[in-house]
Amino acid sequence: MDKAVSEASKSAVKVRPERFATGVGVLMATLGSAVGLGNIWKFPYLTGANGGAAFLIVYLLCTVLVGFPIMVAEQMIGRKGRADAVTSFKKISPKTLWWLVGASGVLAAFVIMAYYTEVAGWVFAYIAKSFQSGLMTTDATVTSAAFGQLVSNPWLSLVVQWIVLAVVGVIIVLGVTKGIEATTKKLLPVLALLLVVIGIRSLTLPGASAGLAFLFKPDFSKLTAQAIMVALGLAFFKLSIGMGAMLTYGSYYGEDQNIPANAARVVGADLAVSLLAGVAIFPAVFAFGFEPAAGAQLLFITIPTVFASMPFGQVFMVLFFVLTAFAAIGAMLSLVEVVVAFLVNRTKLNRTQATLVTVLAMALVGSMCALSNSSMADFKLFGMTMFDLFDYVSSNILLPVGGLLMAVFATWVWGWPNFKAALSNEGTLANEKLLKVVFNILRFVSPVLVLLILLTGLKIVNIG
Ligand code: TRP
Repeated sequence: MDKAVSEASKSAVKVRPERFATGVGVLMATLGSAVGLGNIWKFPYLTGANGGAAFLIVYLLCTVLVGFPIMVAEQMIGRKGRADAVTSFKKISPKTLWWLVGASGVLAAFVIMAYYTEVAGWVFAYIAKSFQSGLMTTDATVTSAAFGQLVSNPWLSLVVQWIVLAVVGVIIVLGVTKGIEATTKKLLPVLALLLVVIGIRSLTLPGASAGLAFLFKPDFSKLTAQAIMVALGLAFFKLSIGMGAMLTYGSYYGEDQNIPANAARVVGADLAVSLLAGVAIFPAVFAFGFEPAAGAQLLFITIPTVFASMPFGQVFMVLFFVLTAFAAIGAMLSLVEVVVAFLVNRTKLNRTQATLVTVLAMALVGSMCALSNSSMADFKLFGMTMFDLFDYVSSNILLPVGGLLMAVFATWVWGWPNFKAALSNEGTLANEKLLKVVFNILRFVSPVLVLLILLTGLKIVNIG
């Protein structure tokens, strides 16, 4: 009996009633995935440190020639398969091994969430901290000590991560429309508003122009092979592509959804948020004479001192961390949904059970990152703590390889007639010329670029 049931569930294609309810919902959920910690703690600093406008040009090229086409292909595979990352490949290309791309995506969700939830946990903690006066100091040694106290406390690090996972888990249990769509629809407009308010505050400070110069002044001498790999990795990470998040969301798109048009809006809006974040952060940092720093240090040590230096700084600091938390939540929803959709489709677990299992497993894997600054600080592989290793491996290897394979699948395996039919909504959209361009970029340009950059970055191929 059991055997018969499992045989039946293997062959039967599960119906997936979940769909995003509205076009705005599709845009907001997808944008909610793209906009995240990447915009605030990765993009501005990486741009400033790798040559400003020069890096931006490379990043834009990566976005146009790799990011946008792969996002379109990935969403197309999802909508066609109407299932999670693994099942979609199995349905579109039965009896092949392409489902392994989806499987590696499910794993990648754990690798990314492991450190992402910890950074999000610090952000949550900083919302609470910014209500107290302890952080309102222009003395960086004090803010540095405060951050140190948080990250070096193993229990505290674990608890903030669990809180983050619990919040995300509750939204996921609510479902695709009532959870993901409803939340992102509410959070994103608030986020945009807060960002504009902080951006204006920062830009109107005396001496703000040095920050703009840091961000935008082109320095082509900084464009090394390493910097180009950073730009590519950032493009993948920023746009949530290469691991099945866009695929899973695509499976919730309606048949009448214009995938390329929606993807173009997402890519454009995400870039706008990143630039706004840069404009909100660096003019203020320079105006008060601080050094621009990397990642965590910028967000949790420098930023509080910057806010402490300005009138009504505490209000702005609360807003800033609330904004960052909103961004992180929308992004994490898409990461968790990859795993939950997979479990719901391929096991007997219902959505609530699947979410519970996923969140618990993520807490377990994530503890390695949460403890990277305390109990496990000396546990290193390839010279990196688990926190740094997971970050490096996901952005620079898992996502580019996944994206590369999706590009190859969409164009060389699935082919033009299917591609055109799927993305013109069976001929109802008059977008054949655009599709042809996207198809050819995906077929000839994106895979070669990704491969070259990967091999150069990993020092397998030497250019210059
Ligand atoms: N794009 C998000 C950010 O910028 C991170 C993210 C969410 C992500 N989902 C993803 C990255 C899927 C890669 C794959 O913060």
